[in-house]
Amino acid sequence: MSRLFAAIYDPFMRSTEQACLSRWRADLLTQASGDVIELGAGTGVNLPFYGSQVTRLVLTEPDGHMRAKLRTRAGLRPAVDVRAASADALPFDDATFDTVVSTLVLCSVPDVGRALAEVRRVLRPGGRLLFLEHVAADDRPARLAWQRRLEPLWCRVAGNCHLTRRTDEEIRAAGFVVEEQIRESVRKALPIVRPSVRGVARRER
Ligand SMILES: C[S@@+](CC[C@H](N)C(=O)[O-])C[C@H]1O[C@@H](n2cnc3c(N)ncnc32)[C@H](O)[C@@H]1O
Repeated sequence: MSRLFAAIYDPFMRSTEQACLSRWRADLLTQASGDVIELGAGTGVNLPFYGSQVTRLVLTEPDGHMRAKLRTRAGLRPAVDVRAASADALPFDDATFDTVVSTLVLCSVPDVGRALAEVRRVLRPGGRLLFLEHVAADDRPARLAWQRRLEPLWCRVAGNCHLTRRTDEEIRAAGFVVEEQIRESVRKALPIVRPSVRGVARRER
């Protein structure tokens, strides 16, 4: 299943990327600077959006099929370090990075609280988490009910992707200060993955 997921990911996402996601990624990643780590970098869709203010770039990806695609794409850029690592056990010392990037990943980790504790640990005080995640449809009860119904099946076919997480609440609960947040519907996506949040959260100390 993970081989198939890696093979179809880019074509499956193409119309959504063109409709909005690419622009959102570009806007968000202008804020990535210094030593940067990306969680679950997948096929490397964010790579074109990292600018010259990024001094070191580490892309982590636990899935071998995704990582193979990521290595090919990252190979086109100098000095990008691709690592096999899960977000809940990052193989880095405390306070190593200025920026952590997570796009469409915290829906899939086994334990969001544990992953966010790792994010906080590897960030330097004052460092930032840049996030873009799909979330529970709290403002649409009928859609939320469908998300709940379909979540067990969706998790199995879509790489443990959960539909009803409230990732922005989890980020605050993990001790981050959310400095910017936008809620917006993802255009040209399936209705169950349309509600999204993106923004910037700071580790204060
Ligand atoms: C929907 S894809 C998103 C890929 C990419 N971040 C993007 O924005 O297009 C979800 C990614 O999360 C990765 N993933 C799943 N479990 C993970 C974990 N525990 N830690 C880090 N990444 C994980 C998957 O392998 C996959 O590459």
